[in-house]
Amino acid sequence: MEGGKTAANIILLGPPGAGKGTQAQRLVAERGMVQLSTGDILRAAVKAGTEVGKMADEIMKAGKLFPDELMGEILGEHLDGIPLEKGVIFDGYPRTARQAELLDGLLSSRGRTLDHVIELEVDEDALVDRITGRYTCAKCGEGYHDRYKQPQVAGVCDKCGGTEFKRRPDDNEETVRTRMAEYRAKTAPILPIYAERGLVRRVDGMADMGAVGEAIAAYLDGR
Ligand code: AP5
Repeated sequence: MEGGKTAANIILLGPPGAGKGTQAQRLVAERGMVQLSTGDILRAAVKAGTEVGKMADEIMKAGKLFPDELMGEILGEHLDGIPLEKGVIFDGYPRTARQAELLDGLLSSRGRTLDHVIELEVDEDALVDRITGRYTCAKCGEGYHDRYKQPQVAGVCDKCGGTEFKRRPDDNEETVRTRMAEYRAKTAPILPIYAERGLVRRVDGMADMGAVGEAIAAYLDGR
């Protein structure tokens, strides 16, 4: 934190498989920012078998969206646990105009600002391939892909040495198509709201992962 200014808070926006999680992990590793992924939060609730988790399980398997007001409450609780000097990466939030409105309130009531909205521009046809090939380390959550990002030693996680991996139940083609339709209908219309505020930065999400990361870093550093 310099000169009393709080750390930058950013939204990563893009359709399923655009690379939001991949780039968020990179920002965490390189800049010490905190990733707040509403998808990860809901998956943890499903795993824990809570009431929220039971509700989320059905919705996520169908590729639909979790209710706005409850999602906002849950996000607020997570935001409260993050020190102000840490910048937050919103990964998968907001997803509707109402969520965008809620986020403004969640940030301002905590003395935070919204500094950048990074839109990952991608070719939807390529996304099904990205998503259906994706898997993560069961121990630390590091993300991999059957073709685009394999562990350096086959079957061993680069980050933690774990040897078990898992795939998401909503990563099948039918659910992915519904998730994309939800993105087009409910999430993409948020972009003009942020564009009017001069916050949107477009990045070519079809470039290789390193180049996408570089482009995001350039924006954040004002290069
Ligand atoms: P969520 O978990 O947020 O999923 P999503 O938005 O569908 O996004 P993904 O996680 O699928 O993709 P990503 O953009 O993070 O891509 P990744 O980096 O993994 O949400 C899941 C569900 O939860 C929703 O459907 C909804 O039901 C619910 N939900 C969540 N948030 C909600 C909210 N706010 N409100 C209501 N409901 C909510 O990359 C994909 C793959 O491609 C990886 O294997 C990666 O290695 C590879 N890859 C990444 N970048 C590149 C590249 N540049 N080149 C080649 N391969 C690449």
